[in-house]
Amino acid sequence: MSGKAKAVDQSLPWYSFISNAIKDTPLDVTLLVVSAFVFYKVVSLTRRRRQRRHREQQLMGPGPISLEPGGGGQKEELSPLRSDFTVAELREYNGTREDGRILVAINFSIYDVSRSKHYYGRNGVYPNYAGRDISRNLINFSVETNESEEFDDFSDLSISQMSTLREWDQQFREKYPLVGKLLREGELHTNYEDEDEEAEQEMHRNQ
Ligand SMILES: *[C@@H]1O[C@H](CO)[C@@H](O)[C@H](O)[C@H]1NC(C)=O
Ligand SMILES: *[C@@H]1O[C@H](CO)[C@@H](O)[C@H](O)[C@H]1NC(C)=O
Ligand SMILES: *[C@@H]1O[C@H](CO)[C@@H](O)[C@H](O)[C@H]1NC(C)=O
Ligand SMILES: *[C@@H]1O[C@H](CO)[C@@H](O)[C@H](O)[C@H]1NC(C)=O
Repeated sequence: MSGKAKAVDQSLPWYSFISNAIKDTPLDVTLLVVSAFVFYKVVSLTRRRRQRRHREQQLMGPGPISLEPGGGGQKEELSPLRSDFTVAELREYNGTREDGRILVAINFSIYDVSRSKHYYGRNGVYPNYAGRDISRNLINFSVETNESEEFDDFSDLSISQMSTLREWDQQFREKYPLVGKLLREGELHTNYEDEDEEAEQEMHRNQ
């Protein structure tokens, strides 16, 4: 390539360098191979991300925006719940309650997934998740239930399992209301009343 061509190349967009290289025989084989490799990498990375998102979507259920049109009968929203639960207390929220509230726990955080009944309800895709700590299920992509009523402290998890769990926790936090925390034996329930209920009661009293 002449010095002039080089100067022109620098002022042209990057792809003109490639098309010039193709036009200027001999063909730069190395460049083609590198481009093909980069292209392949980008495509496979994108595909892997999409598959991962798809798997997550399957486990989490749709967000608030994609609620079923027409609603499954229960249209009125449940009032926000703020409370801590022990493992045994959480079990009540297994999709059999009259008010329809369903809770799950992930890494000690309890989320209200009632709005995704078609995922976590008794007739949903993951009925066994309701009322349970699903951290290990999410890490392993498993639907098997762990009947243990012990508090799980996750002390045996590897670094990569921890980071998977953290990602799940963040995803649920973005999608579902946080209710409170899962209590270990002997741990006391936090009083959340000061936080929001008092303000609400105050409002009613003044009306
Ligand atoms: C759901 O919880 C209720 C109350 O704790 C219990 O009576 C019922 O057997 C549970 N059902 C299932 C399917 O887990
Ligand atoms: C995932 O499943 C394997 C095989 O059943 C089990 O050994 C492992 O403990 C599970 N992982 C977690 C985090 O529970
Ligand atoms: C079941 O839960 C207990 C604690 O609640 C935990 O120690 C145990 O590893 C879990 N087993 C599986 C297979 O996930
Ligand atoms: C789980 O929650 C505890 C307490 O909030 C926190 O210290 C820890 O970093 C969390 N672990 C993961 C894997 O997110």
